[in-house]
Amino acid sequence: MSATTDTNKDRVFIFDTTLRDGEQSPGATMTLEEKLQVAEALDEMGVDIIEAGFPIASNGDFEAVVAVAKQVKRATVTGLARAITADIDRAGEAVRHAKKGRIHTFVSTSPIHLAHQMKKTEDEVIEIIARTVAHARNLIDDVEWSAMDATRTPLEFLKRCVEAAIKAGATTINLPDTVGYAIPEEHEKMFRDVISQVPGADKTIFSAHCHNDLGLAVANSLAAVRGGARQVECTINGLGERAGNAALEEIVMALRTRGDAMPYHTEIETTHLARASKIVSAAANFPVQYNKAIVGKNAFAHESGIHQDGMLKNAETYEIMTPASVGIKETTLVMGKHSGRAAFKDKLRELGYELGDNAFQEAFVRFKDLADRKKHVYDADIVALVDDEVGSVGDRIKLVDMEVISKTGGVHRASMTLSIDGEESTVTYEGTGSVDAIFNAIKQGVGTEPNLVLYAVDGVTGGTDAQASAHVRLEMNGRIVSGNAAEPDTLVASARAYLNAYNRLLIERGASAQGAMAG
Ligand code: KIV
Ligand code: ZN
Repeated sequence: MSATTDTNKDRVFIFDTTLRDGEQSPGATMTLEEKLQVAEALDEMGVDIIEAGFPIASNGDFEAVVAVAKQVKRATVTGLARAITADIDRAGEAVRHAKKGRIHTFVSTSPIHLAHQMKKTEDEVIEIIARTVAHARNLIDDVEWSAMDATRTPLEFLKRCVEAAIKAGATTINLPDTVGYAIPEEHEKMFRDVISQVPGADKTIFSAHCHNDLGLAVANSLAAVRGGARQVECTINGLGERAGNAALEEIVMALRTRGDAMPYHTEIETTHLARASKIVSAAANFPVQYNKAIVGKNAFAHESGIHQDGMLKNAETYEIMTPASVGIKETTLVMGKHSGRAAFKDKLRELGYELGDNAFQEAFVRFKDLADRKKHVYDADIVALVDDEVGSVGDRIKLVDMEVISKTGGVHRASMTLSIDGEESTVTYEGTGSVDAIFNAIKQGVGTEPNLVLYAVDGVTGGTDAQASAHVRLEMNGRIVSGNAAEPDTLVASARAYLNAYNRLLIERGASAQGAMAG
């Protein structure tokens, strides 16, 4: 059932833009394989529309939209296009591979964008909308038009724009809160006014697309639904430009949990939410904050004695939804060093992983190694280990060996043996501390100096024998990428996370590994 043919007036269509708006988060760049993995999770979860990228932006983006379009079985696949014929053609070319394809084209409508960015008059913008939407409709039946910065656009002009888009054949109209400026009451009113006052609006699906600059993206999305919107644009984990987009998992669970106050429904299989969150967090190398609603580590943790007492007596005392309803399972003791391949494969399947033969073999060897070194291996350890393994497939620069000497008030020296495109070399360097020495040695080894934007380490589980999960963000010529690694040793995890990020810089630039970034 598509957004324009479903007659159920209470159905809210979920448009996921993790792969487009989400990927615009600084450092959240994904490889093609990662995008396909995310798209598969979204499709299996029941997302209605997947925005797979911005095809004109680069060949890589175009190829990603084509690949997602070919792979996706159920969802509509869309690509973004500015109000430019070449953009629209490129998007049309990319989504024609989909079972159900859509072109999503947009133009700014607010006075501030018209005056400073577009340098166009209102009449010129109306003409652009009519011409570009009609062009898109000539290529495909399913066309979404967005009024960029709609929430800072005077209502009368916004209505004229929407009317022009509908007349030209747009089947979905999106009114984005591009800068996260709206508040719920006025957002609801904007949708109600436009839908009730524009001719033809009653036969069109209206969509909300809210950014989270004031922390109101989910509240505004729900207000838009009350005002008549029946499509919501959102991202897993709320990934997105600046403070992010509205979080898919929060919208879906709010509608499900508070159906009494909001009588609308989605077709999302909510037990997939936790897994989708993990897949996106690993693919985008973007950690989920601990207290993030629905999918954060602490979202279902009860710390205070009074809460724990209530939970033991009746979970509903302090829990408005069950962890199981969003796919969170009890953290269980996995297995020990005597567990075999079959048991490990079963555990991976239970955790939602299907690995190819080589990846499975590598993961199994690492699991055995971990089980040898760590007393208890938990589900979270396996997830960290496999995400690390999958996230570093294809890395051209690898850590072979390292030795670190660190003395209080004295020298901090790292010796690193790196394999660069299969060739090994060893370099030794000093720093103000162990991590500084390691990162300096790597920079020396690869011959370039990306800027370190972020370095963070966390324990995968509790205890001093817990694996360390290290996260590194690097910047080079305005491009930001992230890298992750999990290891029992914090310093090794840090070195591998740095290398993982560095390898991503290489993928994006398609450069040779040694000295790739020089100049
Ligand atoms: O935030 C925004 O306005 C957008 C549009 C391109 C839909 O992302
Ligand atoms: Zn946006």
